[in-house]
Amino acid sequence: MKDQSSLSRDKTASRRRFLQTGAAGAAAASLFYSTLTIADERAKGANERIGVGFIGVGCRGNNHMDICLHHRDQGFCNTVAVCDVYGPRAEAAAKKTGGKIYRNYRDLLADPNVDAVCIATPDRHHARQAIAAIEAGKDVYCEKPLTHWSQMDLAKKLGAVAEKNKRIVQVGTQFVADDAYAVLRKKVRDGEIGKVVHVQAGYFRRGDWGERMPIPDPNARPGSDLDWQQFLGDAPQVPFSVSRFFQWRMFWDYAGGPATDLLVHVFTPVFCVLELDFPQRVLGGGGTFQYHREVPDQCNLIADYPDGPSVVLMNSLSNYVGIKTIIRGTKGIIDWEGMDGNKFTGARIVRFGKEDQKEFIPWRGMGDTGKLWTNFFECVKSRQRPYSPIDVAVKVQAPLNMAILSHRASKVALFDRETESIVI
Ligand SMILES: NC(=O)c1ccc[n+]([C@@H]2O[C@H](COP(=O)([O-])OP(=O)(O)OC[C@H]3O[C@@H](n4cnc5c(N)ncnc54)[C@H](O)[C@@H]3O)[C@@H](O)[C@H]2O)c1
Repeated sequence: MKDQSSLSRDKTASRRRFLQTGAAGAAAASLFYSTLTIADERAKGANERIGVGFIGVGCRGNNHMDICLHHRDQGFCNTVAVCDVYGPRAEAAAKKTGGKIYRNYRDLLADPNVDAVCIATPDRHHARQAIAAIEAGKDVYCEKPLTHWSQMDLAKKLGAVAEKNKRIVQVGTQFVADDAYAVLRKKVRDGEIGKVVHVQAGYFRRGDWGERMPIPDPNARPGSDLDWQQFLGDAPQVPFSVSRFFQWRMFWDYAGGPATDLLVHVFTPVFCVLELDFPQRVLGGGGTFQYHREVPDQCNLIADYPDGPSVVLMNSLSNYVGIKTIIRGTKGIIDWEGMDGNKFTGARIVRFGKEDQKEFIPWRGMGDTGKLWTNFFECVKSRQRPYSPIDVAVKVQAPLNMAILSHRASKVALFDRETESIVI
C-alpha cells in the first residue's frame, strides 16, 4: 500500500487537477453520463466539498476514512456520517471523522449532507446498500467484490440501476488506478500483439485473512451494541457466533475465499485492458489445505471466453512464490514485468521477431487507493467514467462467481448469454 506517501506527494498536483474539473469539467466532451438527472442538479460545484458517509467502518473502512480525512484536510470533502452494526466501531469512527453516527445504513442514506457513500461492509451487503444509495441519489465508492458469490442477479441489477440513475460507482479493486491500462488497451485494440488468446494472472501470499481477523471482544453478544440481524441481512438465519460476526471471511455464507477476495484484484486490470465480456464457461478448483476455514485457501480457475482468450487465474494463501500477469497474443505478449515480489514497475510489450524492440509502459498509480479516491472525487464532479466502473465490475464478477459455484458443485459452470445467467 502506498496510500499515505503517494497522497502527500501528489497533493498539490491533485488539488490543482481536482479544481480544474467540477462544473466546468462537466461540460467537457468526453462525459461518461451525458444526460443530467434530477439528482445531478444537486451536483457540487468545483469548489464545494463532497459530503462522504461511511457504511461499514471495520478494517477497510478505516483505511478509507484515513484517506478521506486527508482529502478533507485538502478541502475536497467533508466526512459527514458513519454507520456500523457494531457500536464500538461506529463510535470510534464518529470520533475519528466527526461524522454523525447511524446504526442503520438506510438512515445514513436519508441524511441530506451525504453526497457520496463508501461501502466497506462484508461482501453480501455491497450490492443492496449500493442500490439503495444510488436510489437515494448518492454516488458510491463500493469495496470489492461487487457482490457475494451467490448474488449474480444483484450484481446485474446494481449495474442497471447505476446506469439508469447516472450515478458514479467506483469499485475498489486494488490495482486499477492506473492510466497505463488505457495505453495498453489501445495497443491491444490496434492489434499490436495480434489476437489475444491466453492470459495468466495470480495472487500469492503466506497467511489467510480470516482466522487472523481480529475479535475485539470475545464476549460480544447481540444487543444494542451489536445488530446480528443486520449483519446477517439475507444470509441464512443462523444463531449468533462471535467468529461469524468478526471473522466472516472464513464462511461461505458471507465470503467466497480467494476468488472474490483476491483474484478480483489481479483480474480487473486485465479486464480493463482486454474489454472482455461474459465468459463461456468456467472451471474452479482448489481446496482448504492449511487454514481452519470453510472457504478455500488455495484457488485456481480457468475462464474461457467465446473466441478467446482462455484465462488462468491462480492463488495460494500458503506460499508467496507466484506468477506474473501475462497477456499472450498471436504476435506477442504484454507482461506485467515486476509483478513478482510485489514490485510494480510497469508493463513490457514484446512482439515476436522484434524482441530487441521491447516497449515499456511504467505503472503510475497501480495499487494506490488514494489515487482511486482522488479519481472518484474528480468523477463525482465531472461525471466522467471512473477507473473502476460498474459495468466492468459486473463482468469481472461473473467468472469469479462461476468459479466458486463450479468448485462447490465439482462441475463446469456455463454462462447463458441470452438470459445473462450462470448455469451449473
Ligand atoms: N480493496 C481492498 O484491498 C480491500 C481490503 C480489505 C477489505 N476489502 C473489502 O472491504 C470489505 C470489508 O472488509 P473488512 O476487512 O474491512 O471487514 P471488517 O469486518 O473489518 O469490517 C466490516 C464492517 O462492516 C460492519 N457491518 C457488517 N454488516 C453491516 C451492515 N449490514 N451495515 C453496516 N455495517 C455492517 C461490521 O460490523 C464491520 O465493522 C469486504 O468486502 C472486503 O472484501 C477490500
